[in-house]
Amino acid sequence: MQKPVFLESQQVISTQNLVTEIEAGLLAESATIAPKFLYDGLGAHLFTAITLLPEYYPTAVETEILLQYKNEIATALGNDPILIDLGAGDCKKAARLFESIKPLSYVAIDFSVEYLKEALEKLQSQYADIPMYGIGMDFSHTLKLPETLSQTPRTFFYPGSSIGNFLPTEAHALLTQIKREALGGGLLIGVDLMKADRVLRAAYDDPLKITAAFNLNILRSVNAIIAANFDVSHFCHKVVINHSKERVELYLEALRDTSVSWHGKQRLFKKGELIHTENSHKYSIASIQDLLNRSGFQALKTWTDPEQYFAVIYAK
Ligand code: AVJ
Repeated sequence: MQKPVFLESQQVISTQNLVTEIEAGLLAESATIAPKFLYDGLGAHLFTAITLLPEYYPTAVETEILLQYKNEIATALGNDPILIDLGAGDCKKAARLFESIKPLSYVAIDFSVEYLKEALEKLQSQYADIPMYGIGMDFSHTLKLPETLSQTPRTFFYPGSSIGNFLPTEAHALLTQIKREALGGGLLIGVDLMKADRVLRAAYDDPLKITAAFNLNILRSVNAIIAANFDVSHFCHKVVINHSKERVELYLEALRDTSVSWHGKQRLFKKGELIHTENSHKYSIASIQDLLNRSGFQALKTWTDPEQYFAVIYAK
């Protein structure tokens, strides 16, 4: 049986860097934990559960757009691209794409390597004729692909509105690097659009509390990485819809005075104090097109759903 090949990236996920990053966030005046730490083993599964919730429209609507316009999208992508999947996760979206486009090779990149291994092996067994590569990589600061990858034009696939985790300035930096790394190829990106509060609130504060579990689990993920002692039961999930910054913000709110300690360091939290865990930026079609243009992409093709909940764009 064909096995995917796992490549070494130059940006190895070093535990020391992660520890430094987490510590800085916890010791900041307004505490923060970066959203990538949501995706430990359990977190990756909880996110998959979120994508199955009827309230979490982004996955369903994006899937609908990709399906409805699959022929136009295949035409836009052109022949036999090397497909690079940023944040491949369960590789489900790429698998669906393979029904209309057969890439020459498929490169799946994710922060959560163990989860990726499982998913990619399964996908490889379904598509034995597509050579598959996996890379465990943290591209939240810089994106640099291994030089061992064929230096031909590549198509990046960045679905799910993951770009929304970045501040507009960071998103600009990442998109600029994608444009450079594409070597004349392009980018197929999925972006969530601004919409009514009630729809956003239901999606990010679902009645089954899966999103709450997903958010709270970041404390366990941090406990494991820096040997800390967060008591998860001292916090609750909080969602703020920030219109001026055009984003949904996720926090963990201390339900009582509490503290966390690790390696001789400590952070106290007063009752009501917040830890910021995620931003999910929402764009308009005009604002995402403008951002892509400013990042060096000229030709854009945009597809959306009738309600304009979500946009899929091919940029080159
Ligand atoms: C994977 C970043 C696109 O922002 O909607 C889902 C993550 N957080 N529910 C999003 C998430 C809470 C998701 N992204």
